[in-house]
Amino acid sequence: MCGIVGYAGHRPAVEVVMSGLKRLEYRGYDSAGVAVVADGALDVRKKAGKLANLQAMLELDPMKDASTGMGHTRWATHGGPTDVNAHPHVSSGGRVAVIHNGIIENFAELVAELAADGIVMTSETDTEVVAHLLESTVERTGDLAEAMRAACLRLSGAFTLVALDAQDPGRLVAARRNSPLVVGIGEGEHFLASDVSAFIDYTRQAIELGQDQVVDLHAEGVTVTDFRGEPVEVSPFTVTWDASAAEKGGFDLFMLKEIAEQPKAVADTLLGRIAPDGLLRLDEVHIPVAELREVDKIVIVACGTAYHAGLVAKYAIEHWCRIPCEVELASEFRYRDPILTRRILVIAISQSGETMDTLMAVRHAREQGARVLAICNTNGSTIPRESDAVLYTQAGPEIAVASTKAFLTQIVAVYLVALYLAQVRGNKFGDEVAAIVGQLATMPHKVDLVLDTVEGVRALAQQFADASSVLFIGRHVGYPVALEGALKLKELAYMHAEGFAAGELKHGPIALIEDGVPVIVVVPPPQGRGVLHEKIISNIQEVRARGAVTIVIAEEGDDVVTPYADHLIRVPACPTLMQPLVSTVPLQVFACELATAKGHDVDQPRNLAKSVTVE
Ligand code: F6R
Repeated sequence: MCGIVGYAGHRPAVEVVMSGLKRLEYRGYDSAGVAVVADGALDVRKKAGKLANLQAMLELDPMKDASTGMGHTRWATHGGPTDVNAHPHVSSGGRVAVIHNGIIENFAELVAELAADGIVMTSETDTEVVAHLLESTVERTGDLAEAMRAACLRLSGAFTLVALDAQDPGRLVAARRNSPLVVGIGEGEHFLASDVSAFIDYTRQAIELGQDQVVDLHAEGVTVTDFRGEPVEVSPFTVTWDASAAEKGGFDLFMLKEIAEQPKAVADTLLGRIAPDGLLRLDEVHIPVAELREVDKIVIVACGTAYHAGLVAKYAIEHWCRIPCEVELASEFRYRDPILTRRILVIAISQSGETMDTLMAVRHAREQGARVLAICNTNGSTIPRESDAVLYTQAGPEIAVASTKAFLTQIVAVYLVALYLAQVRGNKFGDEVAAIVGQLATMPHKVDLVLDTVEGVRALAQQFADASSVLFIGRHVGYPVALEGALKLKELAYMHAEGFAAGELKHGPIALIEDGVPVIVVVPPPQGRGVLHEKIISNIQEVRARGAVTIVIAEEGDDVVTPYADHLIRVPACPTLMQPLVSTVPLQVFACELATAKGHDVDQPRNLAKSVTVE
């Protein structure tokens, strides 16, 4: 949700900033802008639309040479995506430029105050107030860092801010509250960014800025303080992945690359967590075993795709651990006054680790005394930092806005937690845990087998590009898979798509079925809970009888379904709880291909952003 880049060093700043923005464009892409100081004045360029529009503008009219600069790619909150509302925003006197990610909640009050001083807002954004606040202090003190600290103390809401002072070139000052910011440490150069992918080509040494901190950045060094100016100790970390992980690597789309990376992502998430005896070693989960034994309820909080991973995990947790498990949308969680105690384990699932709804749920759970375990893909991000423990998924950077490999690895990671709980609480014998871990270990290969067959799914998807609606049905863990399939289609193909528990159809949604409506059916393995398989065959018959065209996802060798399938997609046979790891993959490919057939930008679907850092 908005990408931020800053640079101070010895390279051409505009080049570094633009290359960083390219990497961060997945965070927001409705407008973009850059600012540098040249000849004692700010040079600011900004343009509505994708980054390519700004790039074209700079090619026609290049910016002046500078070695310090900052840039922004926007996902609009306050004010539509126009040239004027694009960041950077400049103060009334033209001295300070600022970029911002987040929402300033008390902006109306600040606008009124500035109006009383005769300052007229030129944009509809909340960000512009910060430029004016900064200028009023910097004019008095000449110190941008002091001005930033003073401004931050006046702001409420969520913000990452970066500012540039025309009279102090060579310096950037940034601050953060409830919104991400990392500092890249190079030799004779330093970087600021919403995430490390923006500067990974230049350095892998980074510092994650903490909550309510200000960083003062020059080519030669950085100083970090809190909002009151007290120095803060920082601990740099090394980014373990390299630049190629953030590139398309020969694929046309990041989404296709990330779908193809799923076998490795699943394997990497298991790596180092299985001991030679087949039992689990989750040393990184720093919640004492004695406390895990006392857990009497699990509550999973997450949003979107991560929420669907949580819904899948509930079936495994209750089956393996015999602990009641609730799964709740993070955006609803704290507003219903949930009953939380020390014996409740809250599992927060988030790819980015920055989703504001999930972060707020984490904070609420901890305030109420619950233990929070984060399942996260982004090292050092806010949600794991604010949780009691974290288990990282090892999916590598996920750039496409639609989540794919994160989903599979989230399921695997929560399964590991569930099995670990079953192991330490004695719900399962060691050999039982080892047997299920053995099943998990076969999944990378099975996902690979699915990838070998996706050409057929792509061809099939193209046939449905004109459908006005697609329905998805499943039972048991196939139900959240159906929800996930529908979400992918909505967000990428902008089509009406709904996922239903197959048994619910007859309670209302079956009225949607008419001649030719495609219904995608996730069929449970016949050798699992046999009754599920029989029931879904009945559900398929019900929709076919009303004219639906059925696209059936069923495992190899399940011939019972064949007569009921207008189109059949085969996946390798697996135990019921493992099936989401294979049955989701064709649905990802289906949505990606259908969106491509409709001419949509799959990696950057309209109205969306990768990391949703506002509530
Ligand atoms: C859908 C998608 C979103 C995210 C959701 C949570 O493809 O990507 O629904 O899953 O915004 O994001 P994280 O996992 O970063 O908290």
